Amino acid sequence: MKRRRHSRIQTGRDTVVKTADPERMRVEVEKTRRALEIGRQSGLFRVPEVLDYDEKEGVVVLERIRGLRPVRNGLLARGRTALELAARSARALAAIHRDLRLPEDMRVNLPPELAAPGARVFLHGDFNGANVCRSETEPGLVILDWQMTSRHGGRATCGTRFFDVVWFLNYLLWTPGWRHLVGDPVAPVARVFLATYFHETAAGDEAELGPYAQRFFEHKQARRRELATWWQRPWLPRCQVITRRFLEGLVRKASA
Ligand SMILES: Nc1ncnc2c1ncn2[C@@H]1O[C@H](COP(=O)(O)OP(=O)(O)O)[C@@H](O)[C@H]1O
Ligand SMILES: [Mg+2]
Repeated sequence: MKRRRHSRIQTGRDTVVKTADPERMRVEVEKTRRALEIGRQSGLFRVPEVLDYDEKEGVVVLERIRGLRPVRNGLLARGRTALELAARSARALAAIHRDLRLPEDMRVNLPPELAAPGARVFLHGDFNGANVCRSETEPGLVILDWQMTSRHGGRATCGTRFFDVVWFLNYLLWTPGWRHLVGDPVAPVARVFLATYFHETAAGDEAELGPYAQRFFEHKQARRRELATWWQRPWLPRCQVITRRFLEGLVRKASA
């Protein structure tokens, strides 16, 4: 079996062919199929249909959904649309955490540095502003890429739901754009995202998010500079300020 760490995408007229490490692809295909149903039943999001799948080679043929735009830019723009997108993303994530189930042989826990005590759920694993999309032709969200991010080993399927929550915000905090220079574009979106997510899930463990997020960002800190592209580097101190404020806000809220 071939081993590949990163996936490859080939876009055709009506299909998208994705190739990845076969073992990881087996999990991704299973999640994609199950998520499609969750999206349909909840009416909250759409997932590309799996049209064909070669298990041995790790190749999947997906329905191509046209006119996709990652939600990131929409989330960081000012105004009602951004907040509406944040709320929709949060409702989608809450439904995923509530309803996603995988077979026992696909249960792999998060690595210790990302784990937390408390309930475990099955995770999206790479729920960020690039994999959550809008479509130009439909009103709802489209959610892609149901594989644990390779930044964190690519294999875990299950663990604290705070991982997906923090991963979503991490992407907004640390993928710099010009809006980071003129203010804090993340705070309003983060507030709505978290309030909606916790409203939907009502598990009463909101206060535990602060310490988890703090640990998460500390853990990531060392590699930030390494992973940043040359054009992102000048933004990093600014991202750091915004992240620190975000964390202070979480701690304040938890102790209020
Ligand atoms: N079913 C699809 N329809 C349309 N575009 C897609 C589809 N699947 C993937 N893409 C495009 O390819 C990109 C990469 O696909 P993704 O599954 O996120 O793989 P990766 O692991 O490389 O991020 C997406 O951001 C999207 O632009
Ligand atoms: Mg992706």
